[in-house]
Amino acid sequence: MNLLKPHNVPRHVAIIMDGNGRWAQRQGEARVFGHHSGATRVREVVETAGNMGVDFLTLYAFSEENWRRPDDEVNALFSLLISYLKDEVERLHENGVRLKSIGNIDRLPPDCQEWLRLVEQRTGNNQGLTLVLALSYGARSDMVRACQSIAADVQRGFIQANEIDESLIQSRLSTSIMPEPDLLIRTSGEQRLSNFLLWEMAYTEFYFTPIHWPDFSKEDFATAISVYSDRERRFGGLISP
Ligand code: IPE
Ligand code: IPE
Ligand code: MG
Repeated sequence: MNLLKPHNVPRHVAIIMDGNGRWAQRQGEARVFGHHSGATRVREVVETAGNMGVDFLTLYAFSEENWRRPDDEVNALFSLLISYLKDEVERLHENGVRLKSIGNIDRLPPDCQEWLRLVEQRTGNNQGLTLVLALSYGARSDMVRACQSIAADVQRGFIQANEIDESLIQSRLSTSIMPEPDLLIRTSGEQRLSNFLLWEMAYTEFYFTPIHWPDFSKEDFATAISVYSDRERRFGGLISP
């Protein structure tokens, strides 16, 4: 398939992969069926993003609030994640993808943590797309952790309170491993952030689509990139005539 490469490809794309459950239920299937189909889309979008020259792709796979879901669904999501990591590790490696994770990883089931570590190690030296999985991630708690670590340093006398600036705060967030997202895509028609990358998205361009994640194709991804490439980003300044 020949997906046209727009002139202005975002360096970092973040995606809230939403709508799996509704997509399945609409067809009379269990929600988990939607998560399975969604995993296929992850494979495709990772490949397409890499081919288009995106440097960072951050996928919101499980929020801190998603722990409120029934145990069955949570367990199914984590076994799906393990299958994805097992099945994809060599393909990711061959394609030069480097896997990273953000979020409260300690809360994940131990086998899941183990697989994440393994794939992160295996792909750690790759130079292509960086794929960041946000797992048990919540932007507010990430900011709380950053504040705690800065406060501890102030208490020990390592830094003065008046030395705290934006770059210091940024450096203590789990997202310090990546640039700020240029483009956020959210599928399924919902138009909210659901506690995703609140600090980092101060100047991100938003793209909302009614398509549910299991239907979100390579072409839909390319459309989002092309809409982004026509946007005018001002960052509070003025565009020169
Ligand atoms: C997104 O789909 C996947 C996760 C949140 C893990 P949902 O499971 O939220 O699907 P809907 O929004 O209920 O349809
Ligand atoms: C956000 O989707 C989290 C992920 C996609 C992983 P949710 O479906 O959990 O968000 P809300 O509850 O509709 O805001
Ligand atoms: Mg949802």
